[in-house]
Amino acid sequence: MQKLKANILLIGGDGLIGRAIRHQCKVGQLTCISRRAEPENSSAGIWDLANSIPELSLEPDDVVVLAAAMTSVQDCEKNPSLAYRINVKAVEEVAKLCSSRGARLLFLSSSAVFDGQRAYPAETDETCPVNEYGRTKAEAEKRIQDSGATHLILRLTKVLNPAGGYLAGLLRALSQDERVKASPDLPVAPLSLPWTVEAITRCLDFSKNGIYHLSPKDETNYFDLAEKVAVKNGFKRSLIQRQPLAELQQRLPQNPKHAALAAEQTANKLGMSFPFWEEAVDS
Ligand SMILES: NC(=O)c1ccc[n+]([C@@H]2O[C@H](COP(=O)([O-])OP(=O)(O)OC[C@H]3O[C@@H](n4cnc5c(N)ncnc54)[C@H](OP(=O)(O)O)[C@@H]3O)[C@@H](O)[C@H]2O)c1
Repeated sequence: MQKLKANILLIGGDGLIGRAIRHQCKVGQLTCISRRAEPENSSAGIWDLANSIPELSLEPDDVVVLAAAMTSVQDCEKNPSLAYRINVKAVEEVAKLCSSRGARLLFLSSSAVFDGQRAYPAETDETCPVNEYGRTKAEAEKRIQDSGATHLILRLTKVLNPAGGYLAGLLRALSQDERVKASPDLPVAPLSLPWTVEAITRCLDFSKNGIYHLSPKDETNYFDLAEKVAVKNGFKRSLIQRQPLAELQQRLPQNPKHAALAAEQTANKLGMSFPFWEEAVDS
């Protein structure tokens, strides 16, 4: 990782991305806050974002990386008031604290702030979320922008990790010779976890407010993604079955048409080459 002058306070150190950031940063440079204490994480503070913000030690110019969130779209739909508390109010409290202490805030947001109907929305486009998760993320972005804190909002598409989440479930099923349904009608813009964390760590030295997009240059659909994963890992392509559109429409009445974000401006600012979606499976 690049040499940073600032200290980093990571909130959400036990999630997919939080863990990867923790492993990337130098010992002593990063303090971590998690929902619960873990043996490997003994120096960390504890905060359940459902409760009000605890005392956090922050100095001017420190960077707070806010990676904790209610990330399940289904959980946000089922419990919108808890989603609001965790994904909006707690974020606002952190942003206001950053503002009062002169610390900077790097917030992990999502492509779900858009409705998926238009291809490649830009960093400057108006948000238009269609589900509770996206609405909380879009509202959190606004509260941060109004807080007075120096901030960077990073909107991510879909991060793949063979050790967890969608990809781990797919690989587990394939290894047991199970058939897996995947939709050719549901778009996805996958990023690999290592690439995403490299991009996030490049952002840690930011000094100006902004919104960045982390997205592959192109997009695919879940059927093609699942087939590519199967073939790459030596499983039978025939295990991947096309999910009928009607089944998808039952789950997602407003079927998104697109998943990728326009990210050229961000790529230029970070001086990084952005990947094609297939690199998320190849890497
Ligand atoms: N991964 C993606 O594809 C993706 C895409 C777009 C945006 N993002 C955004 O990136 C950020 C990190 O995502 P991720 O994939 O790392 O998510 P994740 O694996 O679901 O991790 C979320 C983290 O938030 C913590 N958390 C949830 N509720 C909490 C609460 N009430 N109090 C304290 N901590 C709580 C979880 O704690 P526990 O470990 O205790 O459950 C976990 O450590 C999120 O803001 C997410 O919206 C991720």
